[in-house]
Order: sequence, then structure tokens, then C-alpha cells
Amino acid sequence: MTATTSSLIEVRGLHKAFGDQEVLKGIDFTAEEGTATALLGPSGSGKTTVLRSLNVLETPDAGAVRIADASIDFDHLPDDKSARRREIKALRARSGMVFQSHNLFPHMTVLQNLVEGPVLVQGRAADEAEVDARRLLEQVGLAGRESAYPAQLSGGQQQRVGIARALALKPQVVLLDEPTSALDPELVGEVLSVIRDLAQQGWTLVIVTHEIRFAGDVADQVLFLDDGVVAERGGAEVLTDPQQERTKQFLRRVLEAR
Ligand SMILES: Nc1ncnc2c1ncn2[C@@H]1O[C@H](COP(=O)(O)OP(=O)(O)O)[C@@H](O)[C@H]1O
Ligand SMILES: [Mg+2]
Repeated sequence: MTATTSSLIEVRGLHKAFGDQEVLKGIDFTAEEGTATALLGPSGSGKTTVLRSLNVLETPDAGAVRIADASIDFDHLPDDKSARRREIKALRARSGMVFQSHNLFPHMTVLQNLVEGPVLVQGRAADEAEVDARRLLEQVGLAGRESAYPAQLSGGQQQRVGIARALALKPQVVLLDEPTSALDPELVGEVLSVIRDLAQQGWTLVIVTHEIRFAGDVADQVLFLDDGVVAERGGAEVLTDPQQERTKQFLRRVLEAR
């Protein structure tokens, strides 16, 4: 992959099969620094697999991913195991993942959850990581809850800690996989509002979400996935004025389910 574009994220020709089920059938997209990309599509269309491929939690069978200066060409992985591990580690370090459920460490306080990665994984000084963690907690509206354990927080608060934990690793891209879909309806707004703030502050985001109105507000780019391909793409107008029949059907179904 050549560095001829200024895009922060570049995904080319991603293919992935699980057994004989082809889940990604050639996914291509780019995203500019400071933009939000919304990934939408029916259940099973491959959205999570795309995000996990960006973070190399899945190894695609073919294609290439670049985030900033780290790239992997899955067609030409190095034969040498340690060289391969180095490439994976470098690409993985460029993004932070926020999952549907926060998976915080239950036996650690909020502050410990935020400091653990930077100190143990990145080797940063504990006092410096703690200063950053407190600032991040303030940013997600949880100043003062440093000593709480995850179980003492609401689902929305836990998910906001999950977001702060992803940010604590100073990634260049934040990947969010249905960050509000495990929450009670009344807790969705506070989490979406934190994500909106991140977009406004210039974080580069890739978000899988079924929150159509939110996606329309926040996304610079909308990718509609269906059956392992990007079936439609564009700006927020994809959500209000879809061109493809399958996009129209999907949006109708999601909006009717509200
Ligand atoms: N680790 C896995 N092993 C086998 N099949 C998988 C695995 N991960 C995902 N799949 C299958 O791949 C398809 C796409 O999954 P996924 O990317 O999670 O879709 P989405 O997030 O759009 O719902 C689904 O049919 C799912 O069952
Ligand atoms: Mg999914």
C-alpha cells in the first residue's frame, strides 16, 4: 500500500471467511483524520468483523489495512513469526476498541481500570497515567468516581468508563461496536452524548450503531454493509435518502423497531 493519500485509515479488499462461510467479500474504505464513520447494516452483515480486523482481533484472509503509519498486507504476511507479531502489535496500538458491553475488570476500581493498560501494556509512568486517567474521567462526566468499582456504577456510567479506558491508550482511532445496544433505553443518551463530544474534539471514530438519528448527526461518512460488502456509501444523506433498495429496507426496519 502506498502513502499517496492523506487518509488516516485505509482498508483495501478485506476478505474473511469462517469455515466455508464468507463473511467479508471485499471491503474497501478510507477515513480522514478527525472524521466519524458510521457502519450500519443488518445483523450478520460483517460489521463487527470489519472492526475486529482493523484492530487485528481477526486476521483477514486477504486485503490490507493501514492506520496512520502502521499497515498490514494480509496477502503478504511476513513468514517470520516475530516480524508478524511486530506488525500486528504496531497496527493494534493505533486503535482503541469500545465493545457492546464494557468488559471492565470487576475487581479493579475505575481508576485502576484506566491506568492498567497504559502502565502494563505501554510502559508509561504510573503517576502520569493517573493524571491522564483523571482528566479522561472528567471528560466522560465521571470525575469523583475514581474509587468506585464497576458494579457500583450504572450501565451507562460503566460504558463511559469503557470509552475513557479506550482513550487512555492514546489511540489514533477509536472503534466502537454498538456501544449503546446493551443499555437500558434511558441510559443511551448519556453515552451517545460522550461520543458526540469525542467527534467534536476531533477524534477519528468508526462506530457500528443502529442509532440512525445519532449516526446522521455525527457521521461524516456512512457505510451500509450487507452480506459482506459495502452496499451503499456516502455522507449522512445515505440515512435520509438511501438509493439502494436493501438500504431502504434496512432503515425502514430499524426505524419501525423504535
Ligand atoms: N469467530 C467466528 N466464528 C465463526 N463465525 C463467526 C465468527 N465471528 C463472526 N461469525 C459469523 O460471521 C457473520 C458476520 O458476523 P459479524 O461480523 O459479527 O456481523 P455483525 O456485526 O454485522 O452482526 C455472522 O454470520 C457470524 O455468525
Ligand atoms: Mg456485530
